[in-house]
Amino acid sequence: MDTNPQGFHEETSFLSNLPKTEWKLAANTTLLHWKGFWLMPVTIKSAISVESQFNPLSSDILLASFPKTGTTWLKALATTILSHDSNPKSDSQTDQLQTHNPHELIPFLEMETFGENASRDINQYPSPRVFSTHLPYSILPESIKNSGCRIIYISLNPADTFVSSWHFTNKRFGTKISFEEAFDEFCNGIIVGGPFVDHVLEYWREREKENILFVTYEELKEDPNKHVRRIAEFLGCSLSGDEIEQVVWKCSHERLSKLDVNKDEERVQTSGIKFSSYFRTGVVGDGKKLLSPEMMERIENLSKQRWEGSGLEL
Ligand code: A3P
Repeated sequence: MDTNPQGFHEETSFLSNLPKTEWKLAANTTLLHWKGFWLMPVTIKSAISVESQFNPLSSDILLASFPKTGTTWLKALATTILSHDSNPKSDSQTDQLQTHNPHELIPFLEMETFGENASRDINQYPSPRVFSTHLPYSILPESIKNSGCRIIYISLNPADTFVSSWHFTNKRFGTKISFEEAFDEFCNGIIVGGPFVDHVLEYWREREKENILFVTYEELKEDPNKHVRRIAEFLGCSLSGDEIEQVVWKCSHERLSKLDVNKDEERVQTSGIKFSSYFRTGVVGDGKKLLSPEMMERIENLSKQRWEGSGLEL
């Protein structure tokens, strides 16, 4: 899209012509329907900036996810794996997670790196450059898809994603709608990056490509050593058994949630989100505990229908 002053008007009218809704859970945040997904206007503009300004390198690493499915954990893991690889004696002094929240270490492409709220200088990124994104696969620029850069996608089952999102968004916006109403919104796809089922399905369909790795929060919880090794190998890092154990511990919810940097209510991301809000229970199965049997049936049927024939089951 044109970015000259005339282009500004084009952009404004382009956005105002998109179907619109209010995401009630997030205090009626406006979402626009673009290329099959509900996104905030600022995210659409940033996605367009990424497309026009980002020159991906084949050595880049992109951590992709739907919000609330383990993004923070994946950022911690990638940071620690890469630092062990470049510095095998990696100890507490070189452990950046001691003093930084994972979101400070790996910025979002469409938030901190490009767009009107960008706060990072891409030229300052060390190599390999590691970014994250909540953009759906179909919205990622072709330049990224053709660059051969490595993409790791983390997913989580729909019920737990909804519950995590409910708590996070509630804390952030002090929402006034009921749990049931928020659930209805989620099932109708009204959430930033939604519909959830389509976001996951798009990356799942790409999982056979050699530069794409699809991991689930559940498998990481169940057998962290095995799946951290998978991630390390995918990143081209050869770590010993001891190092894998160390990475698992350093990045665990138990450890990270107790660090001052992640407990300090004053520490916030550029978006204003408190670092502390990224850590809650960190367990699998909260959805089953909090949703009624009818709600569970609805959400399971929804994903079953959408994912039918794809082999995807979460
Ligand atoms: P819960 O709300 O279920 O506790 P995201 O990072 O995409 O925002 O996802 C947040 C979810 O991941 C939260 O889940 C949070 O507790 C959990 N989480 C954050 N850091 C984690 C870690 N190091 N290990 C496991 N889970 C983690």
